Amino acid sequence: MANKVKSVWFCTSCGNESSKWMGKCPACGEWNTMVEETVATGKRQNQSANVPGKSQKPMPLSEIDSSKESRISLNNNEFDRILGGGIVEGSLVLIGGEPGIGKSTLSLQIPLMCPELKTLYVTGEESARQVKLRAARIGGTDSNCLIYSETLMENILAEARGIMPDLMIVDSVQTMFSQNVESSPGSISQIKETAAQLLRFAKETGVPVILIGHITKEGSIAGPKILEHIVDVVLQFEGDNRGTYRLLRSIKNRFGSTSELAVFEMTGKGLREVSNPSEMLIPMHDENLSGVAVSAMLDGTRPFLIEVQSLVSSAAYGTPQRSATGFDVRRLNMLLAVLEKRAGFKLGVKDVFLNMAGGLKVNDPACDLAIICAVLSSNFDFAIPSDVCFAGEVGLSGEIRPVSQTDRRVTEARRLGFKRIFISSFGNTDNIPEGIEVIRVADVPALCRILFKGN
Ligand code: TYD
Ligand code: MG
Repeated sequence: MANKVKSVWFCTSCGNESSKWMGKCPACGEWNTMVEETVATGKRQNQSANVPGKSQKPMPLSEIDSSKESRISLNNNEFDRILGGGIVEGSLVLIGGEPGIGKSTLSLQIPLMCPELKTLYVTGEESARQVKLRAARIGGTDSNCLIYSETLMENILAEARGIMPDLMIVDSVQTMFSQNVESSPGSISQIKETAAQLLRFAKETGVPVILIGHITKEGSIAGPKILEHIVDVVLQFEGDNRGTYRLLRSIKNRFGSTSELAVFEMTGKGLREVSNPSEMLIPMHDENLSGVAVSAMLDGTRPFLIEVQSLVSSAAYGTPQRSATGFDVRRLNMLLAVLEKRAGFKLGVKDVFLNMAGGLKVNDPACDLAIICAVLSSNFDFAIPSDVCFAGEVGLSGEIRPVSQTDRRVTEARRLGFKRIFISSFGNTDNIPEGIEVIRVADVPALCRILFKGN
């Protein structure tokens, strides 16, 4: 049958397909997300979805053999941990992140650190020579890594089936294209098709595949949510790409926990694992600086301490500015309103700037206490002693509420040599360790009385 080309509309948010343009996507309800793409009819579309794989009979659950360990360690503690203890055979792992954050560096570092694994590294973005230059920069042996600069999926999968590597890496999904789909590389139908073909390859052969994906302006993995449904694991790189710390967060994991966070540091020789994330806290200033408070926060399952910095100054214009880096500015406004209403601090005529050190994005409510302390410290130009840290949520009526896993936060603070920690006076405090002075406070006025005593 002759190929006919027709236009279809895809939602860039959820991947929903429609024959005509619509202002609002009927599947996900987003406005203005439909884009036009041409697809060929006649030739069977999305062959990967229709061709049956290796035929298997239905089996009782009790007879399925799961005793064999099917995880492969990648000799990188942080990366192994975030995957749930190594990469699972036949899994498709998506690593997303903004340009320049270190996706290609990490994905090349993995095979270089695992010379015992035969790896196929497919690059659609860089030439083989450029990859070689990067490998030389990172250092390490590349004895068992095959570099393949190609973008046509059919060729890639044919090679991969011939080589049968232990691990395959594809950089990036946006540059790959399949002949099954007429539209250009990077379009939604190409991304869907590429991911579906790789998934089928991974499941049939048991080869784990790491797929790199770019992030859109809105912060989602480009080539919509649909990709997140297809793959087994979604890891997302975060961090300020001017700073040196990079955070790899697990967003979805069919074989492990999603509350994991891996920390890396970008050095001149690639990414270094940061096994003790509190090292981000290493002070970069003299003691007795006002506007700085340390929060014992928890990201996923790991406690670490970060520095909260604030600057409060008289507003230059009629409307005071509020700006927050790494923190929700609406929550900052809420905390400022609590300080004003419940504790009588007049911050309505002040500009307030807030920054989380290390380029971290924080959404742990336990940081509230450190934030209000940093703001007050800057406002009154009073330094908080450097051996004090905080862990507590601030409620709308100015009460300090208990936070999850207080004992682990206190343990981490003690390990790092802090002498005092402020926590809520409510909640269960049975397992709080000894060796650090724990100060329990009920509300913001009580906190201020203790903190600013004698000033
Ligand atoms: P890269 O992995 O190319 O980013 P992505 O694939 O996510 O777009 O990272 C590139 C950045 O990392 C670039 O700004 C240079 C820097 N870099 C180092 O600082 N040290 C290194 O050893 C390498 C390889 C890169
Ligand atoms: Mg890259």
